[in-house]
Amino acid sequence: MAGARGFGFQVPAKPAPLDGVVNLDDFEPIARERLDPRAYGYYASGAGAERSLHDNVASWSAWRLLPRVLSGSRAPETSVRLLGGSAALPFGVAPAALQGMAHPDGELAMARAATGHGVPYVLSTASTRTIEEVAAAAGSEAAGPRWFQLYVEHDLGFARELVLRAEAAGFTAVVLTVDLPVAGYRERDIRNRLAIPMSVQAHLPAGLAEGETEFTTYIDTKPELRWADVEAIAGWSSLPLVVKGILAPRDVERAADHGAAAVWVSNHGGRQLDGSVTAAEMLAEAVDAAAGRVEIYADGGIRRGSDILVALALGARAVFIGRPFLYALATAGEAGVEHAIAILGDELRRSLSILGATAVTDVRREHLRPAIVP
Ligand SMILES: Cc1cc2nc3c(=O)[nH]c(=O)nc-3n(C[C@H](O)[C@H](O)[C@H](O)COP(=O)(O)O)c2cc1C
Repeated sequence: MAGARGFGFQVPAKPAPLDGVVNLDDFEPIARERLDPRAYGYYASGAGAERSLHDNVASWSAWRLLPRVLSGSRAPETSVRLLGGSAALPFGVAPAALQGMAHPDGELAMARAATGHGVPYVLSTASTRTIEEVAAAAGSEAAGPRWFQLYVEHDLGFARELVLRAEAAGFTAVVLTVDLPVAGYRERDIRNRLAIPMSVQAHLPAGLAEGETEFTTYIDTKPELRWADVEAIAGWSSLPLVVKGILAPRDVERAADHGAAAVWVSNHGGRQLDGSVTAAEMLAEAVDAAAGRVEIYADGGIRRGSDILVALALGARAVFIGRPFLYALATAGEAGVEHAIAILGDELRRSLSILGATAVTDVRREHLRPAIVP
């Protein structure tokens, strides 16, 4: 099939038809077919034996939804307040590296599709487009929230420059990822000999083009980062700080003590510590530990509107989704991601109505029971 260059990898130029795609899982086989095996492997893989990758999806089913009758609405309110801004839906696009491997427009198409529908878009530090290009694609701040995800690599001064650039470009929050002191052991990437040009980072110095510098399988961050650094980072800009990659309740408290406005409960999509707890398992404890001091978000294995309801019932303010949006981007670019957002929005509205809720903010722990049948 004729193709285009998607960040060094071949991707088919023509979008795939979307009429057969009725849920988020339907994108994956199409993407798998279209992508270079190394790109697909990078998106799909988890660490080690990939137990956490599978547990993430399965653990939302540990809870059952308990509907109330005669109390729903045809058009439930789906908007939420996040960090003082407004999002049309209680889910967003999680930061994911190397979106240019899925589609030539990469982060630009993803950002346009999300913010155009009032859905938060979080730009990864390991982007194939610059901070400024993505900000321009995301449009005005009146559209959906756009946040910048920060990996602190070895140099704090450099990280600070990135934050200041993101702030100047109109990003509205900084998401500091703290669960990657070193990269997880991803066997598919090792087998595929995946090599990532160092030039992917959004901070790409002017004039440095793809492939001009050394290649690495891993994006390294600073293993010696400490809570005092988190507090310093919170003070670098006027933007609210979200700390991403927390699982332990005590770390939720510490984040709140060190300047975070929100905590993002996550095991990094099962890509870091294989065998770790899942966000679904830790969410209730995280919400209790937060005691209303910080907003709580969650991600990992969320694929359905009903999974979102479970997370909201456990106390999450919003959830984020990684891989399905990458597969949607690979399937049909911006239109693919728009289709994914429409499907999930529709599932969510229907599930809310049937749950007997008139707004996402009505969903509470009373709507949940532990599953008995595994
Ligand atoms: C291919 C890929 C790349 C990712 N890159 C980043 C990243 O650059 N920064 C980050 O904070 N998280 C990154 N993540 C983790 C996601 O933000 C998110 O936590 C995870 O994908 C959620 O799980 P899900 O894919 O099951 O929805 C990445 C995940 C994937 C699958």
